[in-house]
Amino acid sequence: MPQRLPIGIVGGTGYVSGELLRLLATHPSLKLGSIASVSQTGTPVAQVFPNLASCVDDVSFASVDELESMWRDGGLRGLFCATPHGAAAPVIARLLEGYGGSGRVVDISADFRFRDVRTFREIYGQDHGAPQLADEFFCAVPEHSAPTPARHAAHPGCFATAMLLGIVPLLRSGLTDGPFHIAGVTGSTGSGRSPLATTHHPERHSNLYAYRPLNHRHAPEVRAIALHLTGEDAAVQFVPHSGPFARGIHITIQGSLARSADGTSLLAALKHAYEDRPFVEVVDTPPRIKDVVGSNRARITATAEADCFAVMVVLDNLVKGAAGGAMQWMNRLLDLDERAGLTIPGPAWI
Ligand SMILES: NC(=O)c1ccc[n+]([C@@H]2O[C@H](COP(=O)([O-])OP(=O)(O)OC[C@H]3O[C@@H](n4cnc5c(N)ncnc54)[C@H](OP(=O)(O)O)[C@@H]3O)[C@@H](O)[C@H]2O)c1
Repeated sequence: MPQRLPIGIVGGTGYVSGELLRLLATHPSLKLGSIASVSQTGTPVAQVFPNLASCVDDVSFASVDELESMWRDGGLRGLFCATPHGAAAPVIARLLEGYGGSGRVVDISADFRFRDVRTFREIYGQDHGAPQLADEFFCAVPEHSAPTPARHAAHPGCFATAMLLGIVPLLRSGLTDGPFHIAGVTGSTGSGRSPLATTHHPERHSNLYAYRPLNHRHAPEVRAIALHLTGEDAAVQFVPHSGPFARGIHITIQGSLARSADGTSLLAALKHAYEDRPFVEVVDTPPRIKDVVGSNRARITATAEADCFAVMVVLDNLVKGAAGGAMQWMNRLLDLDERAGLTIPGPAWI
């Protein structure tokens, strides 16, 4: 049996890191090499992730220094960075400075989503932590870019993945006109491990509310990524909502059809865009989050009435929207089958 390649993770105790550990546990070609934590260095990983005890029972969180020395010695073939935005760029810059090895990096934060770091500054209100590395990262949903165009990759994020899965094929098909009006609902894990008033169980349970309507960072992010991929500059109006569940995203994209387009041609364009993409299923009826949570799959459909269309997309924010999408990139960067370690179906009833 071929050796599994060792992989490092930074931002170890986060929700996305937990999902990366879960995916690595059954990956046929990759395995955990080191997982670094700033807050829990030395703590057994199973103490933070008891659900993973059977596969990490002898592993403790390393310090970033320990992970760095393994990386520089060639002991890690790839690295996932799953820290908050702003924290990722400096740690990646530190790990790549003077590094002559063949290791690849996939960043899951927002730090390398923009080719122009001025856009990062405008949207996130802070200077970029490693502008010299912006050209070394390519950001897209893996389904939208055939070859791997850069040395390292940046994951677009969970809401953005769902929006781009709908928008990019629409823009490429020319079947729609004008702005995209998007409403999205996310589960509470989308906000990460640190408790907030808006993720507190009594607030969230049996509740539904919008936040930052028409003023969310993901709208300009999606616009910039879609422009780069398609050459089309489409306005994106986004109203995100907090939903009463832990994981999953549902979005609805609405807008106007181009002349001569209809629901049938829209659905056909989506089917064509994703016909050989194993993780995106184009379906004929509105998709449900329970049909994808826990898996790396997204489901999408389209419908139209008169000159209006609606496209619905569902995915798991922590898998296809984070760790799973990032694993697709890592598989590609290491010349592995893109599907490796990602074909386990979801449990549905969670
Ligand atoms: N949650 C989602 O659904 C989702 C989806 C797509 C993308 N993302 C992105 O993925 C990244 C991780 O998300 P998450 O939900 O896993 O977040 P999280 O649960 O808050 O975990 C992030 C981890 O990063 C480390 N960290 C926190 N502050 C840090 C700092 N200032 N400097 C360095 N490390 C720090 C901490 O781990 P240690 O103390 O162990 O180092 C923390 O547990 C974020 O950038 C997020 O935007 C999340």
